[in-house]
This record gives sequence, structure tokens and C-alpha cells, in this order.
Amino acid sequence: MIYFDNSATTRPYKEVLDSFLTVSRNYYGNPSSLHSFGAQAERLLTQAREAIAKLLQVKTSEIYFTSGGTESNNLAIKGAAFRHRNRGKHIITSSVEHPSVRLAMEQLKQAGFEITYLPVDETGRISAIDVEKAIRKDTTLISIMQVNNEVGTIQPIEEIGEMLKRYPTILFHVDAVQGIGKVPLALHEDRIDFCSFSAHKFHGLKGTGILYMRDGARLTPLFSGGNQEGKLRSGTENVAGAVALAKALRMTLTKSEAGIERMKTIQNLLRTELSKNEAIHINTPVENAAPHILNFSVKGSKSEVFIHSLEEKEIFVSTTSACSSKKKSASSTLLAMGVPETIADSAIRISLSYENTEAEALEVIKAIENTVKRLGRVMK
Ligand SMILES: Cc1ncc(COP(=O)(O)O)c(C=O)c1O
Repeated sequence: MIYFDNSATTRPYKEVLDSFLTVSRNYYGNPSSLHSFGAQAERLLTQAREAIAKLLQVKTSEIYFTSGGTESNNLAIKGAAFRHRNRGKHIITSSVEHPSVRLAMEQLKQAGFEITYLPVDETGRISAIDVEKAIRKDTTLISIMQVNNEVGTIQPIEEIGEMLKRYPTILFHVDAVQGIGKVPLALHEDRIDFCSFSAHKFHGLKGTGILYMRDGARLTPLFSGGNQEGKLRSGTENVAGAVALAKALRMTLTKSEAGIERMKTIQNLLRTELSKNEAIHINTPVENAAPHILNFSVKGSKSEVFIHSLEEKEIFVSTTSACSSKKKSASSTLLAMGVPETIADSAIRISLSYENTEAEALEVIKAIENTVKRLGRVMK
């Protein structure tokens, strides 16, 4: 099989599974227990936190374990909004965020907050100038994704962070779920207060993630309970998951230089070959695009039909994002980019990992071309 749906999820590294199993089997104590068996688990959790902090070049006290990207986004956004609501109730975000951000914003709107959704240009990018223009006296939070999950557009995080140095009271949250290991991000330099990561997008395990929270930043927790994770995230810690996450992050970042180059080569190959076909329209921009996503539309063909047709050849790609693909609605990112609904309706997303090869890409190109021809004949 050829797995080209790595933005939906990735295959866990064998070493990641091994470390999860070892910790689960041998160190299953509760880190909060008073006895030494619990203390062993606590030590492992601390070591995982230290390793992750070092890899992300931040402080150990700035790393909080969560259940993944969705939770990290909800915790950062709702937690910051509620914590600072006495200062203001205005939040700025983009119109192309993942549902875990967009719907968290909608929930805040129901609770009396005002949300500004910034438009994107035809490449799916917001402008830092628009962000600054949207700032009001009562703005407390800005939440912008680093890399779009549907088309791969990279947002101007560095520029926004630089601009926000002039607005010290506004909190800055970045959803880096699609960016880690693909596009560099400097958490401290870019003046980021909160940043979300999800392990299953970099060969870790589903249900494990991180929220980076800058020392000194404050959030209202979403869960009430035993006050684990510095009182920010109650619930018995997933020690084995955290150790596995640290392993996945180390392996990913160690391989990232070569991995990014490899993905760029494959992405270029796919782009060059697919754009030769008149029925294919490439939606992923050339500039400011992450190396692992290529989104394209096959004119006149429904995405689902195309996906299932490729699936017959054991090639796995996706319509838009995994969460919205079952809803059969056109990609909200493409619509926000001004792509006509007919084109947005036929969008396919290829997403790569370091493990994919050029040989696989050539096979996929051939299969896509054959499918375009076959479906074209059926429709005539
Ligand atoms: C940009 C982005 N943010 C957040 C998430 C949610 O992450 P998780 O699946 O870990 O909840 C995803 C997952 O697709 C994503 O692509």
C-alpha cells in the first residue's frame, strides 16, 4: 500500500511503540502516589518533559502534557479567554483554522466573546498588517495556525510575533500541529505564549500531545480534578504516552533536515507532473507552503469518487482534512481562498511523511492520471 495521508495521522515509529510498551509494563505506578513505585513513574514523566523542552528549546516548566492537538487548542483558547475576560472579550483568529480552533471560538461567541475572523488571500495566507488592524483595546488573544492542514499554507507567525512585541498584554496562541518537523518555529523568539502539538502527526501515539505555555502566562484550566500538570490539566498522567511522545519528537527532529528535503523533492515531483494534466488544478501555493502537503482538484470529479478509486489500487489519500472529510462538505480553507465551489468540491489532499519515496510518488502520479482518464470517460 502507499500511505499518502500523513496529515490525518502517521504510522508510529517502532521505537515509539516499544517505549510505550516498556513503560506501561514496568512503570505503571501513578506519578502522584507517595511510594517509590509512583516516584519512578514521576521521574520518567519529568525526564520526558525535560527532553521535550530541550528539543523545543524552551524551559521544562513550559511543557504541559495533554491528549492531543484538539485539547491543547481548546485549553489555550478557552483557558486564556476566560482567565483574562475582565480585561476584554475580543479575540482574533483566521478564517482557515482547524475545527478545534474554529468551533472553540464559536463556543466562546455563545458565551459573549467577540471573534474577528481574518480573511486570507488566494494562497490561504493572512497578513500581519490585517492582524494589527484588527487589534482593539479589548483584544486579549490572537490564535493563528502555523501550517494549514488542508492546503499546507504557512502563516506569517514570525511577523505577527514581531508585531506583537508592541502589544505586550495580548496573548498569542499558535496551532503548530501540522508544522512540527516540517517548518521551523522559534517559540521564544516569536513571542508565542501558547503553542499546540499533537504526537500522532509526527509518528507518536494518538491521544497524546503538548501545550507549550510560556512561563508567566496564565490560563483557566478546563478540567477540575487532581491538579496534575501544574494545576493546568487535571487527570492521571499518561506516563507511557509522554515517554513515547518524547521519543517520537526526538526521532522526528533528528531526521528533520533530510526528511524535509526528501518531502520537498517528492512534493515538487508531484506538482510538476500533475500540473501537466489539464484536468488537474493545484490548490497548494508555490510560495509559503509546507513541504508535506499537496492539494489539488480534478475538474468535474467529486473528491470521494476519486479517493475510492485510488483506494482500489491501495493508495490512500484524503479529501480535505480527516475531520471534515466524512461530512462531504467542500473544504472551508479552499472556499476562504476564493476557490470556486466546483473546484473545492473535487479537492484531494496528498500528505507526506519522511518515510515516503519518489518511487511511491511516481506510482501515485500514474494512478492519478489513469483515474482522471477513466473517470473522464465515465462522465462523458
Ligand atoms: C492544524 C490542526 N490542528 C489540530 C488538530 C487536532 O489534533 P488532534 O487530532 O491531536 O486532536 C489537527 C488534526 O488534524 C490539525 O491538523
